Amino acid sequence: MIRLGIVGTSSISERLADAVGEVEGVALGRVASRDERRAAEFADRIGAPGTAPGLDALLAAGDVDAVYLASPNAVHAEQVRAAVDAGIPVLVEKPAVLTADEWLDLVGRARERGVVLLEAMRTAYDPGIRAIRDVLPRIGRIRRVSFRYEKRSARYDLVLAGEQTNIFDPALGGSALRDLGVYPLHALVLLFGAPRQILGSRVGIAAQTDGLGSAIAEFDGFVADVAWSKITDTALPSEIQGEEGSLTIDAIDSPRRLVLTPRAGDAEVIDVAAPENPMVGEVERFRDAVHGADVTADQDRTGQALRLVDLLLERPLR
Ligand SMILES: NC(=O)c1ccc[n+]([C@@H]2O[C@H](COP(=O)([O-])OP(=O)(O)OC[C@H]3O[C@@H](n4cnc5c(N)ncnc54)[C@H](OP(=O)(O)O)[C@@H]3O)[C@@H](O)[C@H]2O)c1
Repeated sequence: MIRLGIVGTSSISERLADAVGEVEGVALGRVASRDERRAAEFADRIGAPGTAPGLDALLAAGDVDAVYLASPNAVHAEQVRAAVDAGIPVLVEKPAVLTADEWLDLVGRARERGVVLLEAMRTAYDPGIRAIRDVLPRIGRIRRVSFRYEKRSARYDLVLAGEQTNIFDPALGGSALRDLGVYPLHALVLLFGAPRQILGSRVGIAAQTDGLGSAIAEFDGFVADVAWSKITDTALPSEIQGEEGSLTIDAIDSPRRLVLTPRAGDAEVIDVAAPENPMVGEVERFRDAVHGADVTADQDRTGQALRLVDLLLERPLR
């Protein structure tokens, strides 16, 4: 049984804890928080066996076999390094770190020490992506891909009220691109590999980070456009266009309903069977990695997606 320590006490840690309950061979370990009372309350709520006053104490406790890190983005790298150096396998929330180089450095360190390091990119382990892969041959030669993740965040109201909030705080790596843009970018890399080139534009908000943006990615024989937003909503699905038909996808981060419209003939709806909690797949993959599954390709994909983020961040906010 892998006893998984939890770092961070926000709603995403609670969701992860719920997923752990659905995966055989993984159990909750201690909860680490910067605040003792919060740790105790959170551990109680999710049914974790104990607490620790921070990551170092968690790693030193001796009763945790692996850790899940769900802290703000800018904190990930130092926490990953600490866990890797302690020889403890790490599942780190997306985006794993702030830059591709930082990721390569940490992956190298983890490989040297024989420690598992995996990004908690739930999309990569989602049955919806497998369903897309299965039907793609039916739409013929791919010519255009349009992936989007645009959802107005309740925390944007805080920004509008002049308040600070982590998810939009550039000092903590907060940005719509890093929060939501990484999903369609990762899906692109998952399904089609790394593009030859990417060009993009980001729109700035009062918090001095991006609130939304768009990118065009060039592949041989087709083009992809990617949209992300945390300050507006969309009613549009994602889509893949082929010469023999098109495929619409309700949500590219966790596809549940696909509509295949052939060039001739009727549209077909494909409902994807998936666990209710979209984090189950990543927990299963992490468990398998701890038991020896090779995650080199997973790590490479994270690096490729982070490289795209690097390139998009080079452009100034507009
Ligand atoms: N997979 C998904 O669907 C999904 C969804 C949402 C978020 N995420 C990812 O999860 C991570 C956390 O996001 P979030 O919105 O939950 O962040 P958050 O609420 O700002 O912070 C998460 C936790 O980190 C700790 N923390 C807060 N500020 C910190 C700081 N300055 N230094 C160290 N620890 C700090 C807090 O725990 P304590 O105060 O108890 O220490 C907090 O509960 C991000 O990487 C995000 O991209 C993933």
